[in-house]
Amino acid sequence: MRTRETTKTGSNYSRPSFEYHPDRARPKTGQRAAELQPFGTIAKLPNALSEKVCQESVERLNKILADAMTLRDLYKKHHWQVPGHTFYQLHLLFDKHHDEQVELIDRIAERIQMLGGLSYAMAADVAEATSLPRPPKGREEVPVQISRLLTAHEIILQGARSSAKKASELGDDGTNDLLVSDVIRTNEMQVWFLAEHLVDAPDVLAD
Ligand SMILES: [Fe+2]
Repeated sequence: MRTRETTKTGSNYSRPSFEYHPDRARPKTGQRAAELQPFGTIAKLPNALSEKVCQESVERLNKILADAMTLRDLYKKHHWQVPGHTFYQLHLLFDKHHDEQVELIDRIAERIQMLGGLSYAMAADVAEATSLPRPPKGREEVPVQISRLLTAHEIILQGARSSAKKASELGDDGTNDLLVSDVIRTNEMQVWFLAEHLVDAPDVLAD
């Protein structure tokens, strides 16, 4: 970068002179270029896994990621729209589960990146990729909200279990560990907390 030039003077002494370039201080906005890496490709990293294994794990993780991102949004929808006398506890519970899904999503997306792949990021792409059923825009009753969440968890758990097994067969232990230790365990815990709300147990008088 050229910032300084020297100017000859009459004597042997050279003093620095500075040129002013007004464009250099201005942000270069609106820039575009070809994609650095197209979606669906692997930019191989030296991780001692073959490109084929990375590709397979990335594809499976991206499916789980799209479903987890959709479940995250379903939790926020129900956090906002929950009706009835259990509003306060469910409002808080749905937000807690939402936040736990946000953490999982980041771990899944970063696992995809560290395998040299590209993770889904934008809502429109996630909507195309998810296998979770789309809920209506309107407000639904609590048992319906919880049932929708349980269906979503079960789809994610099915995908996570089969992908964990496949990752283990392929020797991709990091992906297997993420799926078992984080995705499966967190989703199983959330299923328990939700499902107990659908048990029709008496509140005051025993049957
Ligand atoms: Fe909130």
